[in-house]
Amino acid sequence: MASATAWVPLASLLLLLLLVAGAPSQAGRLHLSHGRSQHTKPVCTQPVYNWCSSWENSQICETPKECSALWRNSDAPPVSVKLFYETLCPGCRSFLSMMLFPTWLLLGNDVMNITLVPFGNAQETSVNGTWTFTCQHGEDECEINMIQTCVLYLLQDDFSSAFVVINCMLSSYNVETSLNLCLKLYTPFLSEDDIMKCAKGPIGNSLMHQNAMMTNHLSPPHTYTPWIVVEEKHLENPSGLLTMVCQLYQGEMPEVCKRNASSITKQILY
Ligand SMILES: *[C@@H]1O[C@H](CO)[C@@H](O)[C@H](O)[C@H]1NC(C)=O
Ligand SMILES: *[C@@H]1O[C@H](CO)[C@@H](O)[C@H](O)[C@H]1NC(C)=O
Ligand SMILES: *[C@@H]1O[C@H](CO)[C@@H](O)[C@H](O)[C@H]1NC(C)=O
Repeated sequence: MASATAWVPLASLLLLLLLVAGAPSQAGRLHLSHGRSQHTKPVCTQPVYNWCSSWENSQICETPKECSALWRNSDAPPVSVKLFYETLCPGCRSFLSMMLFPTWLLLGNDVMNITLVPFGNAQETSVNGTWTFTCQHGEDECEINMIQTCVLYLLQDDFSSAFVVINCMLSSYNVETSLNLCLKLYTPFLSEDDIMKCAKGPIGNSLMHQNAMMTNHLSPPHTYTPWIVVEEKHLENPSGLLTMVCQLYQGEMPEVCKRNASSITKQILY
């Protein structure tokens, strides 16, 4: 098993490879636009993870080929993947950033339907009609769990953006202070004020209670975090995620599933 510090450059390498795959068309555009300066083409201003979110974006950002590998024509429903986690648990951070996020980049929302439930081993008690929470890693963790719950709520129609912000936070050196920069980088349209309003108010309180209910009603009950549930079944081996999703997906086999999934997972991890 490689040490945790060795994972980080390799996970970054995978992301880099994904970016490089899009590079030739970028270079082509730069080259072309020299000869045709009188036509102004629409400029690709979306963050990379949005280039495949619509046909228009893929045209403007010149990634139709890369995106077609992610788009599925079939009616098969995506495989449900639920992650029950807490924001300051190192195992949760590494699973989300080094396994779940890269797997999602490879498969996309059409193959994987991810539900993130920040609560984990926290406890709740009801005091005069509002809930108070106690978290395994202290008050900071409760606050960050709540912030991520509100990010997911405020971006409920845009899971990709929510996931990118959450991955940015959990992969940061300092999770506690990462929110503002992650929002500026990926979702400048969402303000920290809106998130804090949700996090400190009744909406956040009731959303966190829903997280508690979902976590406490798991069957079988969770015994540790991160607790991963794929199609209602607990996944014991986190590094089997890609293989499991590939096996369960009923639609046309995604390209990445045709390759040896176990060796791709190894490439992600080591
Ligand atoms: C994704 O999962 C959620 C929660 O289980 C569900 O409500 C939603 O309908 C699913 N979306 C798709 C496209 O299957
Ligand atoms: C609950 O509400 C009652 C009446 O409003 C108050 O006396 C009591 O101190 C409150 N308890 C807590 C823990 O806030
Ligand atoms: C896939 O890769 C693993 C490990 O790299 C290897 O043990 C296995 O035989 C391969 N399977 C196939 C079908 O090629």
